[in-house]
Amino acid sequence: MKKLLLLVLSGIMVMAVSGLIFIGCTKEGPQGPAGPNGTNGKDANATCTNCHNFGDTVIVKIFQYDASKHASASTIIEAARSGCSGCHSHEGFLEKLQTGSTVTQAYNDAAPINCRTCHLIHNTYSPTDWALRDIEPVHPYIDTTSSIDLTVTIPGGTDGTSNLCGKCHQARLASPWITNPKGTDSVGVTSTRWGPHHGPQFLMLAGKGAFEMGASAFASTNHKGNVSCRNCHMGPAQGEAVGGHTLTMSSTETGDNVAVCRPCHTAIGTTFDLNGAQTTIEGKYQQLKVLLAQKKVLDTNTMLLKGPMSATKPKKFTQIQLAVYWNFCLVDADRSMGVHNFAYIRDMLDAGITYMNSLP
Ligand code: HEC
Ligand code: HEC
Ligand code: HEC
Ligand code: HEC
Ligand code: HEC
Ligand code: HEC
Repeated sequence: MKKLLLLVLSGIMVMAVSGLIFIGCTKEGPQGPAGPNGTNGKDANATCTNCHNFGDTVIVKIFQYDASKHASASTIIEAARSGCSGCHSHEGFLEKLQTGSTVTQAYNDAAPINCRTCHLIHNTYSPTDWALRDIEPVHPYIDTTSSIDLTVTIPGGTDGTSNLCGKCHQARLASPWITNPKGTDSVGVTSTRWGPHHGPQFLMLAGKGAFEMGASAFASTNHKGNVSCRNCHMGPAQGEAVGGHTLTMSSTETGDNVAVCRPCHTAIGTTFDLNGAQTTIEGKYQQLKVLLAQKKVLDTNTMLLKGPMSATKPKKFTQIQLAVYWNFCLVDADRSMGVHNFAYIRDMLDAGITYMNSLP
């Protein structure tokens, strides 16, 4: 609400300054000097009213966005840590885009992810500022020499939104790194937090980032060639519950927002569990969880690697065990229960289950 007021106030202020408000209701004073020309050929100040006006567009987006997890900034505290700020703050993200490096500074007084993190806002002060800031292919943290482009073709053009989201919604590098996912040699791990971190959704959509330890390569459902993050997470909004700039997929009021699936899956019911896909994945996920716990790899109380371990007393795991655990963490953090990439997630879990069952 405060934000709304600020916006309305600033809108009125801007209009008052440019004299627009007074034209209709008071006698015109002496003509001031002409302002510099804006990029659209209009008076520079007048371009402010392209966005700051009595229309609803911006107000609606702010209303929706304020309900999103981005806006609540529950993780902004991580901005004060170097290496975390690149995904957890506005400033760190911009630094990352500029330097191309995954190493970012620590920021105090950081801003949460906001309108101008994703849009160019207040760059040229014209409507072109709604353009997305960066839709270039992603060089993932886990292998910055590689490049993933999830641009999809849509009627009348292309949509590169997934690349924007993917600059943050991806895994991080872990140390020690797995060099041979089929290896039965041991490596020492010093922290129970070893793993891919939260939010690997871009990699899951792409069908990348998992370690293959099975006999055959993992399959991949081709959502990536047909649908971007925006199609599912930013469909037509219902209030501040789901869709639009809430980025939210389901709520207690609306249930699963299956309206976003229906253009392609006309027969979908009232939940995302298309043909039991989520039920299937949930079952395999639980099965692997139990196996990992039985073999003392996973601690189900903390959902972290099973300790104890420390810098001075590393715990030994085989590479293949760590690879199975890494894949399990990807599925856990992805939280779509197979929707992002059904075949890939299914094969990751199956390979892990097969291996863990083969252990004595
Ligand atoms: C492309 C659309 C657009 C244009 C053009 C635009 N603004 Fe904004 N402005 C925004 C958005 C979006 C916000 C942020 C709203 C929020 O986060 O709540 C904003 C915020 C503001 C704020 C609140 C403080 C802040 O920085 O967040 C002021 C003041 C402001 N704009 C003034 C201006 C002025 C003056 C101009 C013209 C010189 C202008 N704006 C042109 C979209 C625009
Ligand atoms: C600058 C990095 C960054 C970008 C870009 C980004 N996100 Fe996020 N996202 C985050 C972080 C960090 C969180 C955790 C919440 C927070 O902000 O504290 C999050 C949270 C979310 C959540 C809520 C998850 C939950 O716990 O319920 C969704 C959904 C989401 N993002 C979707 C998207 C989509 C879709 C895009 C692209 C349009 C996107 N994000 C772009 C970093 C980013
Ligand atoms: C590559 C981008 C990236 C980096 C780097 C990153 N994070 Fe995150 N982090 C995310 C995203 C995206 C989410 C939200 C994922 C979701 O909700 O699905 C998140 C979520 C979190 C959460 C919330 C978890 C929860 O269960 O609610 C914490 C805490 C967190 N990160 C801590 C850190 C710390 C500490 C660092 C640095 C050591 C860090 N992150 C570095 C992308 C990143
Ligand atoms: C996480 C990234 C992200 C954030 C943060 C974000 N947006 Fe957006 N916004 C998008 C995407 C993606 C689209 C759809 C892009 C497209 O159609 O080109 C979009 C579309 C829009 C549009 C329609 C633009 C057009 O060209 O028709 C407006 C207006 C808009 N956003 C306003 C806002 C405002 C206001 C805020 C802050 C309250 C905001 N956005 C925050 C990602 C974001
Ligand atoms: C085919 C539709 C689809 C696409 C494309 C898609 N998602 Fe999702 N996403 C989902 C569904 C469904 C869920 C599970 C939501 C639930 O059960 O509430 C989900 C869950 C999530 C979550 C966990 C938080 C939440 O809302 O439950 C995040 C974060 C997320 N997706 C981000 C992304 C990002 C980033 C992209 C693009 C790289 C993306 N998604 C692409 C459908 C999609
Ligand atoms: C833009 C079109 C589009 C949208 C929107 C879309 N999907 Fe899909 N979906 C597809 C296509 C195409 C395939 C098949 C891809 C292939 O052949 O690999 C697919 C496959 C799937 C599969 C795998 C089915 C199987 O048996 O292999 C699931 C599960 C799924 N979608 C769920 C969803 C859900 C849930 C939503 C909404 C949150 C959604 N999809 C939104 C186009 C879409």
